[in-house]
Amino acid sequence: MLDQVRDALNGIKAPNGQGLVDAGYVQGLDEDAGVVRLVLEAPADRAKALVPLKAAVEKAVRAIDGVKGTQIITTTQRTPAAAGGQHAHGPAHGQDQQASAAAAPERRAPTDAKLPRPARHVMGVASGKGGVGKSTTAYNLAVALAQDGLRVGILDADIYGPSVPLLSGLGADAKPDLDDQKRMIPLQAHGLELMSIGFLVPADSATVWRGPMVQNALFQLYGSTLWGGGAGLDVLIVDLPPGTGDIQLSLAQQSALDSAIIVTTPQDLALVDALKGVSMLEKVSTRVLGVVENMSHFVCPDCGGLHRIFGEGAGETLKNTKNLSVIGEVPLSMPIRKGADEGQPVVLSAEPSLAKEAYVDIMKKIKPLIMT
Ligand SMILES: Nc1ncnc2c1ncn2[C@@H]1O[C@H](COP(=O)(O)OP(=O)(O)OP(=O)(O)O)[C@@H](O)[C@H]1O
Ligand SMILES: [Mg+2]
Repeated sequence: MLDQVRDALNGIKAPNGQGLVDAGYVQGLDEDAGVVRLVLEAPADRAKALVPLKAAVEKAVRAIDGVKGTQIITTTQRTPAAAGGQHAHGPAHGQDQQASAAAAPERRAPTDAKLPRPARHVMGVASGKGGVGKSTTAYNLAVALAQDGLRVGILDADIYGPSVPLLSGLGADAKPDLDDQKRMIPLQAHGLELMSIGFLVPADSATVWRGPMVQNALFQLYGSTLWGGGAGLDVLIVDLPPGTGDIQLSLAQQSALDSAIIVTTPQDLALVDALKGVSMLEKVSTRVLGVVENMSHFVCPDCGGLHRIFGEGAGETLKNTKNLSVIGEVPLSMPIRKGADEGQPVVLSAEPSLAKEAYVDIMKKIKPLIMT
């Protein structure tokens, strides 16, 4: 099938008149179960051409018999001037972050054919704003999937506030071992494989990184990690940093997400941010499976009453505006908070709880969507 794809791509002309493959625009072409993945790479001064080219490539590839889907990442080449000049590595001031990310030369995406796919399915967990419980949700869902028999890993891509060292109970002093090819062997806890920037750099030092350094760090985590002993996992869950800025967009793009879920709290304001998160994922053609409403309600341990502390109506709004459904409601619960702080996910707790049930329910809804 790849030969057909190459022919189809050469039928589309690059700005210099050559076919796209011959002109060197296509990198990392591969195919897995009918899904064609490739990186469309243009010289920096041709970046604008990438948008119409991507649409043309998508159309041409989808027209080929047997193609079930596409995953196309666009990127511009690093120019020699930029490589040696303003983007040289080194600490920078925090306020540079957004500006640098916008101006940063994008780097080769980690779907390069030389890199093994980290998993059969890569699912992002995103949120429009911080502190909504994204990492806690990502971790508990990952554990629930592993409990259900899948080989699961978590990639903590939240460079500015890594949570996996805490959630796993391993702490920031844990370090991955390297194999003889200098690939990182993921750490393990609760039946998961784990990788986090928090295991690689001292706490706080990442907060002054600029866009290109952040991207570079993620490449290391994503591409140089020996997931599943080199054989790959069933599912890799990527805990994305909160927000919808350039850095988030570029991380979402470069982690080559097959799908994503959005975590939000029920307030109207959080919802507005969640919708921005959905729009961001749409930009990188990532399929959004649905929304997890966290801290959705509180069940009073004394009277048993259910209180919707942060309001309700989010589900309706999401359905009306984005045709998305709420795939689960996680209660505001002490065992969740305690488990997160103590590195003991509530999903593994021996005691039954509404919190545990909520995560397992979401896992059961997600599993058939991602393990097709
Ligand atoms: N359903 C819940 N009930 C009680 N506490 C919760 C719940 N979900 C998350 N928390 C707590 O809220 C805090 C923030 O959660 P978490 O770190 O998962 O959020 P986040 O969205 O990943 O934040 P950040 O934007 O900093 O990455 C943590 O202390 C966590 O234990
Ligand atoms: Mg987090």
